[in-house]
Formats: sequence, structure tokens, C-alpha cells
Amino acid sequence: MNIYLIGFMGSGKSTAGRKIAAALHWHFLDLDYVAVDQQGLTIPEMFRLHGESFFRDAETKALHDISSRSKTVIACGGGTPCSETNMEIMKRTGIVVYLKMTAPALVSRLVASKNKRPLLEEAGEGGISAKVESLLNVRTPWYEQADIITDGLNIDTGEITELLAARIRDAGAFL
Ligand code: S3P
Repeated sequence: MNIYLIGFMGSGKSTAGRKIAAALHWHFLDLDYVAVDQQGLTIPEMFRLHGESFFRDAETKALHDISSRSKTVIACGGGTPCSETNMEIMKRTGIVVYLKMTAPALVSRLVASKNKRPLLEEAGEGGISAKVESLLNVRTPWYEQADIITDGLNIDTGEITELLAARIRDAGAFL
């Protein structure tokens, strides 16, 4: 069994994931890095050289490959859960946790780092709020299919870890 952390870019999936993994004594993986490693290209390179659909295929392959692991907390990319194939893989092999945040809170976190994210790079300085809002609207129905929805802004990783430990025990998987 794995734990999949989902949520918009900038919602703190990697930071929370590392803390939860340490508390459970599980492994931690960042899905973006797995895809980058497998393809030998950075994410901006995948988008620039081959387009978004190439990146999405690489992301699904990475997810599929790591889903056979166990006791691993996986920080997904912001777009990972927005696909029936990916959602099915995650639901079948683990517990899905959504770190929910509002568009304004996400924008203030993302402004500083938007150049590392191809989907935001194309939105100009003033366009970032509109881009985040529209992407978040499209993605929310996917994100809300998570097993657990929690506040990403004021996340209490101790509380989430306890909840997860109880679910893992209920599922008969060992800590
Ligand atoms: C993306 C989010 C990024 C990365 C890629 C696409 C998205 O991951 O997978 O740039 O579609 O939201 P983070 O959520 O870790 O920034």
C-alpha cells in the first residue's frame, strides 16, 4: 500500500509527503523526479521538445511503475490525478490525500517559482491568477475524488499521519 498526495502546484505535497513518510517510517518519492529520471529530460524540456502529451505519458508510466511499491508516500504532480487511468492506479494501490488550497493562496506561493513550471510560464505576470483559477476549476472534480481531503495551507501533518495510520491498520496493511 502507498499514500498518494495530490493537489495543485504549490500546495506543499513534497514537504508534507516527506514529513508523513518520516513519521510512518515509510519511503518518500516525488513522481516528477521519477519521470525526469526515466526520460533523462527535465520537465520544461519534455514540454518544450515534445509537448504536454509526452509529459503526461511519461507521468503515467512513472506512476504505473512505482505503484507496485509498498510503504511509499508519493508526492504527485499537480496534473497527475486528472486522468481516469492515473486515478484508477492510485485508488487501487493506495490512499489518496488531497491538499486543498484556494486559488489566491496558491497564487501567492506560485508567483515566486512560476518559471520552473511550464503551465504557468506561458501566463504573463498578470495572467497567473486567471490561469490558476481556471486550471483549479477544471481540476477540482478530480482532486475531490481523493479518499481524504485536508487543508493544505494549515496542514497538520501529525493529525494526517494519525488518520492515515488508522486507515492503514483498517486495511490490514502493516506499518
Ligand atoms: C504540473 C505540475 C508540476 C509538474 C508539471 C505539470 C501540473 O508538478 O508535474 O510541471 O500539471 O500541474 P508540481 O505540482 O509538483 O509543481
